[in-house]
Amino acid sequence: MIPIVRTVAELRGLVSGWKRAGERVGVVPTMGALHAGHLALARAARAGAERVIVTIFVNPKQFNRPEDLVKYPRTEESDAALLAPIEVDAIFAPLPGEVYPAGFATTVSVAGVSAGLCGAGRPGHFDGVATVVTKLFGMTRADVAWFGEKDWQQLAVVRRLVADMNLGVEIVGHPTVREADGLAMSSRNARLTAAERAAAPVLAGAMGRAAAAMVAGVPVGKALAAARAEVLAGGYREVEYLELCDASDLLPLAQLMRPARLLAAAWLGEVRLIDNIAVG
Ligand code: PAF
Repeated sequence: MIPIVRTVAELRGLVSGWKRAGERVGVVPTMGALHAGHLALARAARAGAERVIVTIFVNPKQFNRPEDLVKYPRTEESDAALLAPIEVDAIFAPLPGEVYPAGFATTVSVAGVSAGLCGAGRPGHFDGVATVVTKLFGMTRADVAWFGEKDWQQLAVVRRLVADMNLGVEIVGHPTVREADGLAMSSRNARLTAAERAAAPVLAGAMGRAAAAMVAGVPVGKALAAARAEVLAGGYREVEYLELCDASDLLPLAQLMRPARLLAAAWLGEVRLIDNIAVG
């Protein structure tokens, strides 16, 4: 049984022992509702650090729509069962009051990379992410942490945060895990109806075709317009953004320069899906 730790004091006790023994502490931050993508991160951490903590905390500060926070699946028992075969050393699953006790007054805000894309559509979201990630790193005393590339902008925000604040945590990005039909794995996929689930892979497909077209010399604007049209024709109701950006600072690119990333957010019914791929 993997120990489930609820308090920072208990966690510190465990981690201090590991650190005294010279062991490297790896952390996989999650909000639970674990799927194969999270399990791939946990396995990578298991292989890459002597001690592994998976954190499960539905962070209220990163939800800009209160109804999403309420609806977010909480499946701790099945999450623990999924992690058992990977034999991580601890699950840190604090209550909100442990993370944000009375009087908590700090917000961590990363300018620049947080501003566009998902930052534009979800005001305050990346402040919430940067704040909780800073806390999780402090609470776990992480030496290394794994994040999925599916949330490419989040990964860029965390890298910037760690560099700017000298947090001394090595950040490892893990490639997006996809369903057989190309749909990026996400806890949100479970909210799709059967018809929406069938339509969902058109986003990844259209992005792949747009990336190939750009590499073949099709102008960026034309390739992006074709991809947006394909996604809408395929059943999505809105493309919130579909943009070519510099892979690290995420500034939009009007021409293909490398390393570039194609990033998208689109609504399928009531579910907002995101995806991104390298171009070139
Ligand atoms: O990617 C997530 O699940 C969350 O944004 C994270 C990094 C665990 C912070 O709450």
